[in-house]
Amino acid sequence: MEGERKLHVAIVMDGNGRWAVQHGLPRVAGHRQGAQVVHDVVAAAPGLGVSALTVFAFSTENWKRPKEEVDFIMQLFVSTVTKWLPELMERGVKVRVIGNRGVLPGAVRTAVAAIEGKTASGSGLHLNVALNYGGRAEIVAAAREFSEACTAGTAFPHDLTEDRFSSYLWLAPDTEPDLVIRTGGERRVSNFLLWEMAYSELFFLDLLWPEFTPDTLASVLSEFRARDRRFGAL
Ligand code: IPE
Ligand code: IPE
Ligand code: MG
Repeated sequence: MEGERKLHVAIVMDGNGRWAVQHGLPRVAGHRQGAQVVHDVVAAAPGLGVSALTVFAFSTENWKRPKEEVDFIMQLFVSTVTKWLPELMERGVKVRVIGNRGVLPGAVRTAVAAIEGKTASGSGLHLNVALNYGGRAEIVAAAREFSEACTAGTAFPHDLTEDRFSSYLWLAPDTEPDLVIRTGGERRVSNFLLWEMAYSELFFLDLLWPEFTPDTLASVLSEFRARDRRFGAL
C-alpha cells in the first residue's frame, strides 16, 4: 500500500441475528461472532491502507429491541473491550466511542472511559465505535454545542462554516469516511453518519456481518480504488 492515500472506512455491521438463526443459534450468538470479526478487521486494517475505521455497534433505535438482547450487547461491549485492551494498546490503536453516552449503563461508561483513556496516545489506527449513536442526534448535539458557545459569547453565528460545524461532531477529527460498507443486504443508511457520508462511496454487501473477513475488506478496497470520484466536477 506504499504511496496510496490512507483511507477512512465506516461499516454498518448488519446481519448478526440472521446469521445466528441460519446456524440454529440464538440471535445473541451472532453478536458474539460479530465481535470476533471486528477484532480480525481491526488487526488487518492498517496493512490494507486503512487509517480510520468507524463501526456502527448500537444505534439510538436499537433500544427498541428486547431487553435481553440489549443487555447482552452492552455486556458484550464491556467484556470485549476488557479482553482486547492490551492487544489494542500493543497495536497502537486509538479507540474513541461516538454516541450519546449519558444514558449508557454505568459499567459501559466505565469501560468506555478505560479504553479511551488507555489508548489515547495510540499513534496507529483510529477505531471509532458508534454506540448509542444516531446521525441526527450527533447533528443536534453539534448544533447545541455551537449555540451554547454563541450564548457564552465565545462563538458568533456568522462564523459558522461547514468545516467549523464539522469540528463539533462526535466523529471529529475523523470526518468524511471515504467509503461506507453495509453488510446484511439492506440498502439503507439507518441513521448512520448522516453529515459525514455526504460524498462517501457506498458498498452494500449481501453477506452477513459474521461472514465478513479481512479478504472481504481487501476486495471492497480494491473496488473502491477503481472508482471514479468526481465530487461534482467533470
Ligand atoms: C447488527 O445485526 C447488530 C446490531 C444492530 C446491534 P442485527 O442484530 O441487526 O442482525 P439482523 O439484521 O437482525 O440479522
Ligand atoms: C443498523 O442495523 C445499526 C447497527 C448495525 C448497529 P439495524 O439492524 O438496527 O438497522 P435496521 O433496523 O435494519 O434499519
Ligand atoms: Mg439488522
